[in-house]
Amino acid sequence: MASVTFDAATRRFADDLPPAVDSLDLDIADGEFMVLVGPSGCGKSTSLRMVAGLESVESGAILIDGVDVVGMAPRARDVAMVFQNYALYPNMTVADNMGFALRNAGMSKPDTGKRVAEVAEMLDIAHLLDRKPAKLSGGQRQRVAMGRAIVRRPKIFCMDEPLSNLDAKLRVSTRAQIAAMQRDVSMLYVTHDQIEAMTMGHRVAVLDHGVLQQVGTPREIYSRPSNLFVASFMGSPQMCLINGRIDAGVVRLGAAHLPVPDSVLAAATSAEVVVGLRAESWTVSTVSHDGALRGTVDLVEELGAEQFVYCSADVPLRNSRIVVRVDHRRTIDVGDVVGLVPEPSETYWFDPVTGAALDDPLRHDLNS
Ligand SMILES: Nc1ncnc2c1ncn2[C@@H]1O[C@H](COP(=O)(O)OP(=O)(O)O)[C@@H](O)[C@H]1O
Ligand SMILES: [Mg+2]
Repeated sequence: MASVTFDAATRRFADDLPPAVDSLDLDIADGEFMVLVGPSGCGKSTSLRMVAGLESVESGAILIDGVDVVGMAPRARDVAMVFQNYALYPNMTVADNMGFALRNAGMSKPDTGKRVAEVAEMLDIAHLLDRKPAKLSGGQRQRVAMGRAIVRRPKIFCMDEPLSNLDAKLRVSTRAQIAAMQRDVSMLYVTHDQIEAMTMGHRVAVLDHGVLQQVGTPREIYSRPSNLFVASFMGSPQMCLINGRIDAGVVRLGAAHLPVPDSVLAAATSAEVVVGLRAESWTVSTVSHDGALRGTVDLVEELGAEQFVYCSADVPLRNSRIVVRVDHRRTIDVGDVVGLVPEPSETYWFDPVTGAALDDPLRHDLNS
């Protein structure tokens, strides 16, 4: 186990381009599972590769256990890296693929075999140890690649989208395996998938255009997004965002009125605000219901236990529709005209120019 610190770490690939990673400050504690998440090109892989020593650091520092490792050779850092596109030795069995690095480092054959067997058991590939990679499925190969990193017992794991080549079901089971085996290693895990980020990490760091947007527990990121980017990137379906105007302490969305909290009134720099509401923060009622916004159902996404109902409404939506989570017991059809009642206490407020949350974040504390 080891701690990792990004200290204003910057990597720029060309003088005329903004940095791929821009002055990143981030601490990963001993034994912590930290997820780096963000859209393609936001600098996740570059950040990871700086820790592993595969990418140079232009300014700032990377510290492992408090020691600046910039300039230190990759193999001296005791960091194991698992990539999305892993390469196994095709002529070696699974057992030999997994034990190769240990044998190279001088470990005896019996000791290597023992360690490989342990890890194979954990990853549910013990029955495959004698096979060659060509005889494995994609998911099995990925677990071998992971096993090969795990047997080395590194101080730090860096995993770069290791599950993105797997089908949905395998992704879920492998996710659980990774979380289970991580317990005593520090982990830096990269994904563009916000669900993976929310379910796997102790903490999540959200990046956009090389800039850290927010770092926190999955719950903090979900319930207290620091800006519009984080609010709309994290959470599925996406948070509904509406341009609003404060008038006498209230924002009106059709017949629905949202009282603006004092903290938001104090922080707002103009009357224009962006109002955010997640799918679980609306209730469907009749159109005539007092304080309901009139919506028309365009699409119903049936998920079994719940359904997501997509409605168009005559308000300045920044995404195309209002999404409402509805209990499976309720029948709603495309074309229905419904009343949409927002929950005032679950409303988010943002500055339309800077994107910053205008809220007193403590208001969204969920008894945590
Ligand atoms: N070797 C490279 N040469 C030039 N530009 C690069 C190189 N690697 C990455 N980049 C650029 O740096 C940015 C961040 O890339 P990357 O870290 O791979 O993003 P992510 O992993 O989040 O998708 C992108 O704009 C990408 O095009
Ligand atoms: Mg990448």
